[in-house]
Amino acid sequence: MSVNSLAPSWLPYPDDANALAHTVWSKNATRSDNGELVIAGVAASDIVEKFGTPVYVLDEDDARSRAIAIRESFDAALASVGSSAKVYYAGKAFLSIQVAKWMLDAGLNIDVCSGGELAVALAAGAPGARLGLHGNNKSQAEIDRAVSIGIGAIVIDSIIEIARVADAASRFGRVQPVRLRINSGVHAHTHEFLATAREDQKFGIPLSDAADVVRLIRSHDSLEFLGLHSHIGSQIFESEGFAEAARRLFALHAELLADGPVPELNLGGGFGIAYTSVDDALPVDEIAIRFAEIVSTGAAALGIPVPVIAIEPGRAIIGPSTTTLYTVGTIKDVLVTEGEVDGAGERVSTSSTSGGGETGETSAIRKYVSIDGGMSDNVRPSLYGADYSVRIANRTSTAEPALVRIAGKHCESGDIVVHADYLPGDITPGDLVGIPATGAYCWSMASNYNYLGRPPVVAVRNGEARVIVRGETEADLLRRDTGLETETR
Ligand code: LLP
Repeated sequence: MSVNSLAPSWLPYPDDANALAHTVWSKNATRSDNGELVIAGVAASDIVEKFGTPVYVLDEDDARSRAIAIRESFDAALASVGSSAKVYYAGKAFLSIQVAKWMLDAGLNIDVCSGGELAVALAAGAPGARLGLHGNNKSQAEIDRAVSIGIGAIVIDSIIEIARVADAASRFGRVQPVRLRINSGVHAHTHEFLATAREDQKFGIPLSDAADVVRLIRSHDSLEFLGLHSHIGSQIFESEGFAEAARRLFALHAELLADGPVPELNLGGGFGIAYTSVDDALPVDEIAIRFAEIVSTGAAALGIPVPVIAIEPGRAIIGPSTTTLYTVGTIKDVLVTEGEVDGAGERVSTSSTSGGGETGETSAIRKYVSIDGGMSDNVRPSLYGADYSVRIANRTSTAEPALVRIAGKHCESGDIVVHADYLPGDITPGDLVGIPATGAYCWSMASNYNYLGRPPVVAVRNGEARVIVRGETEADLLRRDTGLETETR
């Protein structure tokens, strides 16, 4: 068969629509002899039989080994330029007690950005010194709690916060280590980065004001200035944006050294991962080497020592670990006609489930495969237009590949989980499908839209599966509703 004309230009027609691209799927995802998807020795059908669908299946060794690899790579690369690294796991990507423990076991620190994330990290037994707190609008209660547990660093994001943190530190009799978030004017998005004098966004202090703000920080005896912080974006594939941000921050870093110690430089997170077989993410050891080059060149140019380099990856550690399993419910072949011209002269697509197109127009079928979850468990495709890929999980098939769109079950036409991929054309109701690389910003951004319960997170390892976060039941959904208790007669 030929390529479907509705397929996006980046999507190759597959040699095998059952293949699990190793760059996209978690390390221990394979197919069994009968073709079923097996993750860390646990068959998809066994997981579904026990836990139902949708279910997030987290390959524990994948997450742990990526955490270790990223820490070891940065340790080695920074050691080779006479410095060291401090790696924080960005909990906003996905945080649970178990995952926090794995990250601590792997030798990472944990970056939290709210009182809730802080509570989870503390429940996991994280020592305060191994935590960092972020956020552009931390409440005084969040600051107080962080200071009271001896948090390793607070990233100050605005001038107003300096007094709030200093006051909390005085009250708790501590000297609180702080970083200052800089709005470097560099913003990276996947393959491009944009550098402006100052970026129009809510985070950080403009570079031009930073020296004065650091002076203010240093004027408080209850604060210890650790260094500058910058986070230029997320899902970044190229290192030039980081290099540009580092160049800008280094000039200021060197200037600040004249008035006191600046032991660290924090370059944030943002390393990209592959969501589809055509995504080409840099391996972490190469990213680490590139970072070490960037900072050693920057330091040499200014004649200063290479500071400790802190980083905060989230997605690159947890993103590839998870596969969401869903059950296929309904399937619709929608005939899409392309080539009509609207009033503004633009080519448009129209669709019909029954009729054909006008003469001279090209028509193609888009197979809508609806699953039992959607934007409530993965909002990224509808929110950011993010692309994902999909495979049948309960079997393989030699049927000719068909272009599919995986749709959720929410009352919203934008509720799409995979915009375009090829699946064997005999996909049928009752089949299980797996969507890989859903470990980051899926569960953590999940909602109860349309009163769907958030799915469980099941960790798999060495042939065993265990729930690490329970799914929500109907009783959970009703629990916070006081409508019956407060009913008036
Ligand atoms: N550090 C800071 C200060 C951050 O703001 C973030 C992410 C990270 C580290 C971790 O970035 P990562 O390595 O995971 O890319 N919801 C969006 C991503 C938002 C990222 C917010 N900040 C998404 O689903 O793509």
